[in-house]
Amino acid sequence: MAKYVGIDLGTSTSGLAYVRPDGNPEIVPNADGERLTPSVVYFDQYEGIKVVGSSARDGGDPDRTVHNIKRHMDDPSFTIEIDEQKWTPTEISAMILSKLKRDCSQIIGDIKEIVVTVPANFNELARKATVTAAKLAGLGVSRLVNEPTAAALYYAQSRNIDGRVLVYDLGGGTLDITVLEIDGDNIDILLSEGARHLGGANFDEILLEILADEYRKQNGAELFIDERQRRRALMLGEDAKKMLSKLYRITETVGNDSDGTARIELSRENFEAAVSRLITRTIMLVEQALDSLDLKPSDIDHVVLVGGSTRIPKVQQTLEKFFGFSPISCGNVDECVALGAALFAQKARKVSEVCNISYGTLAYIEDARTGTGSIQNSIVIPKNTPIPCSMSQTYITSEDNEELIEVEITQGEDSDPRYVDIIGKIGLEVPPGRPAGCEVTVTYSYDENQRVHAQILDEQSGLSKDVSIEYKGEGVLSDEDIERKTAYLKQIKIA
Ligand SMILES: Nc1ncnc2c1ncn2[C@@H]1O[C@H](COP(=O)(O)OP(=O)(O)OP(=O)(O)O)[C@@H](O)[C@H]1O
Ligand SMILES: [Mg+2]
Repeated sequence: MAKYVGIDLGTSTSGLAYVRPDGNPEIVPNADGERLTPSVVYFDQYEGIKVVGSSARDGGDPDRTVHNIKRHMDDPSFTIEIDEQKWTPTEISAMILSKLKRDCSQIIGDIKEIVVTVPANFNELARKATVTAAKLAGLGVSRLVNEPTAAALYYAQSRNIDGRVLVYDLGGGTLDITVLEIDGDNIDILLSEGARHLGGANFDEILLEILADEYRKQNGAELFIDERQRRRALMLGEDAKKMLSKLYRITETVGNDSDGTARIELSRENFEAAVSRLITRTIMLVEQALDSLDLKPSDIDHVVLVGGSTRIPKVQQTLEKFFGFSPISCGNVDECVALGAALFAQKARKVSEVCNISYGTLAYIEDARTGTGSIQNSIVIPKNTPIPCSMSQTYITSEDNEELIEVEITQGEDSDPRYVDIIGKIGLEVPPGRPAGCEVTVTYSYDENQRVHAQILDEQSGLSKDVSIEYKGEGVLSDEDIERKTAYLKQIKIA
């Protein structure tokens, strides 16, 4: 049985690594002979087989193929409907994990417990959905670790990196910027910022546009008119993008059955010009991250590259120009998160993380100048506070004779309640007959497992109430649901 196993459940590819007896982590290939498994599931219509990986990506019907499901992990009510059956992001992810578990256990023995990585900016819901997906696949999760933390751990071990490090992770679907300090075995996260929906998939869309324009010019017709043709062309675009990381000029043959093929010349120069706006956006996020920490580029000792899209030469050059020194690439930039997760499983390092999202409560806030007020999101624990932590805010009751004080627990940065998630509620009954203006202290604590606890204390009566936030909204599975679905998924044939 393999003891120390880590899984990177990625937007476009997933990977599993374990720690060899000599202490070095290694990627375990799947049964298709690949080191990484595309996070794509194809729902076969004949035998009900769920095909995961490259074959799912390359073949078949787009209506039966699920891509990029990780982008929906924070939305438990999101479903994909195929053959009149609805599937949640958790269930689709469980199929990907099931394939990894089954394929890799043929090589390294039974896999029971794992460390799974999540993007630093995954919220409570998405983290919970990830743990549930693992459970459905028959895997216990000993820890969730943030992707940049895992990657940093791998770099620290394989490259002996120390000091203040900026992890630039540009994957298939997201950009994550993390600034951390590595001191031997200790890792202190100073900040994690991310942009969802900024990654390799956006580059593919741009290449697709270039191909479609050129095709129109040459053949006087549309390259794709339905989703199946669009998917095919998109895949060719992705292949071309990867080739352009190696070559300066390539020729790609694209086409469809009705309007024939076209040979399209693509140059690295043109591609770079087309994506330069996106790359500049990533640098703006780097600047923003440094600004929030009051740091200059020269305060960073090393920039490390994570994610397949950092293979694009222009990305590396832009970073080099910005920092004045070359970023470090371990080469296997799309594997280092899984490798670091395995290292983490072996030895729970002393990692001090930061809270990746702000927690607050809804309160009536009055503008002292104008005397007008509104219900706003009042932040109790700000984003990027080192965890574990415990922070309090005192509020006053706004009405006479209040007998029930209710606190709504929010997650998000905006002061406008419409743009934050309500993840829980606590109600505290207080003695009757009191005037408005009684003090109530709200305390939130955030523990090492990234769980939030809340306490409400009525200062006058000394009455208090504690809750551990358990989000029980639509689509979140109960323990019985998990058991039932695990049994159900076990019967499904995954190839
Ligand atoms: N040689 C290359 N040149 C350019 N892009 C590449 C290259 N190799 C891989 N990519 C791109 O990297 C992306 C996948 O990277 P990776 O596997 O790190 O992402 P992921 O972990 O699935 O996504 P995320 O971290 O956003 O969840 C894809 O968009 C892929 O096209
Ligand atoms: Mg990734």
